[in-house]
Amino acid sequence: MGIHRVAVVGASGYGGLQTLRLLNAHAAFDITYLGGERSAGRSWSEICPFLPLCDDLIVDSPDPDRIAAAADFAVLSLPNGLASQLVPPLLERGVRVVDLSADYRYRSLDQWAAVYVHEARTHQRVDADLCTEAVYGLPEWHGAEIAEARLVAAPGCFPTTSLLPLLPFLKQGLIETEGLIIDAKTGTSGGGRAAKENLLLAEASESISPYGVVGHRHTSEIEQLASTVAGCPLQIQFTPHLVPMVRGLLATVYARLRDPGLTAEDCTMVLEAVYRHHPCVRVLPVGTYPATKWAKHTNLALLSVQVDGRTGRLVLMSAVDNLMKGQAGQGVQCLNLMAGLSVSEGLPLAPFYP
Ligand SMILES: NC(=O)c1ccc[n+]([C@@H]2O[C@H](COP(=O)([O-])OP(=O)(O)OC[C@H]3O[C@@H](n4cnc5c(N)ncnc54)[C@H](OP(=O)(O)O)[C@@H]3O)[C@@H](O)[C@H]2O)c1
Repeated sequence: MGIHRVAVVGASGYGGLQTLRLLNAHAAFDITYLGGERSAGRSWSEICPFLPLCDDLIVDSPDPDRIAAAADFAVLSLPNGLASQLVPPLLERGVRVVDLSADYRYRSLDQWAAVYVHEARTHQRVDADLCTEAVYGLPEWHGAEIAEARLVAAPGCFPTTSLLPLLPFLKQGLIETEGLIIDAKTGTSGGGRAAKENLLLAEASESISPYGVVGHRHTSEIEQLASTVAGCPLQIQFTPHLVPMVRGLLATVYARLRDPGLTAEDCTMVLEAVYRHHPCVRVLPVGTYPATKWAKHTNLALLSVQVDGRTGRLVLMSAVDNLMKGQAGQGVQCLNLMAGLSVSEGLPLAPFYP
C-alpha cells in the first residue's frame, strides 16, 4: 500500500483537528502540510499540545505552490467562501481536494451565491465549471464518482444526517414528495471553534432553542440531492435546534407514505437493503431509536424508522456525531475512496460509551 501525502488547511479548527486525529493514526496517509490563519507561523505542538502528530509541523499561511510541493491531497476545513480561493490553483497543480465547506456543494455557482450571500459579496468567484465538476461527497450514494474525483464537496452535517434515511424512500417512490418535514437538533460544536456569543456556556447550557427557522442554508442543500433522487423538484420544511451538548446531531424526518399499508418492518427492510454493504450506516431494529451518544466519536450514522398507521406518516430518525460522519470522518471516507482504499479504513465505528 502506498503512502499518500495530505495537507490539512484549517488545521486548528474543529474539522481540522478531527481530520488530523484520524489521519495521524491512518496507515495510508501522512500529514505533510498544515495551514491556518491566526495559527500560521506556530508549531503544531504549541497550538495543540494535547494532540501530538507524527511530525511536528509549522502551520503555514496557505500557499498553493507550497501545498502542491508537500501533498497529493488537501482537506480544506475553512469558513465558507475561502476554499473557492484555494481550490482552482490547487487543482491546476494536481492536488486532489476534499472540501468540508459549502463552496462546492451546489451544482451551480449562482445557487451558491443566492444562499451564501455574504460570502459571495466578499469572495470573487469565477469557478462555475468547478461547481459543476465537484462531486457531492456522500459516499453511500456517490462512491464511484468520489473515487475518480479531483474535487469532492463533503456534505453539511444536517444534510448528511437527514438525507441518509430519506433518500431510499424517495428513490423507490414510497413517500409523497410534498409535505416533507425535518426537525433536527445539534450540539454547539456545529458552530465551529471561533468565538460566538450564542455558543457561550452561559447562553447555550440548560436551554434548547430553534434557530435559522425558515431559510436555513442547509435546506436548499438537502433539497438539491433529494430532488435529484426523487426525480422531481421538491421542497422541505427544515427547522434546526441548538441543544446543550458539544457533539451530536439528531434528525427526525416526517413523510407521508404512498401506501399506508407499509409497516415499520417493511420500511426497516428498505433501509437495510440499501445500506447492507455500507459500514458507516447502521440500521436499528424496529422500536430502537437512535441516541446521539451511541454515535459519539464514531463515523456511524444510526438510522431507525417507525410508521404511524393513524396518521399515515413515516417517521425517520438519524443520529450522527456532527464532527465525524457530519464532517471530518466523512471527509476521510472520501479520501479513502479517492486513494483506492476501503471506505471505512481508519475510521472508528464503535463508541466510547457514555
Ligand atoms: N462544525 C461542524 O459540525 C461542521 C460540520 C460539517 C461541515 N462544517 C464546515 O466545515 C468548515 C470548517 O468548520 P469548523 O467547524 O471546523 O470551523 P472552525 O472550528 O471555526 O475552524 C476554522 C479553521 O479555518 C482556519 N481559517 C480561518 N480563516 C482562514 C484563512 N483566511 N486562511 C487560512 N485558514 C483560515 C482557522 O485557522 P486559524 O485558527 O489558524 O485562524 C481554523 O483552523 C466550515 O465551512 C463548516 O461550515 C462544519
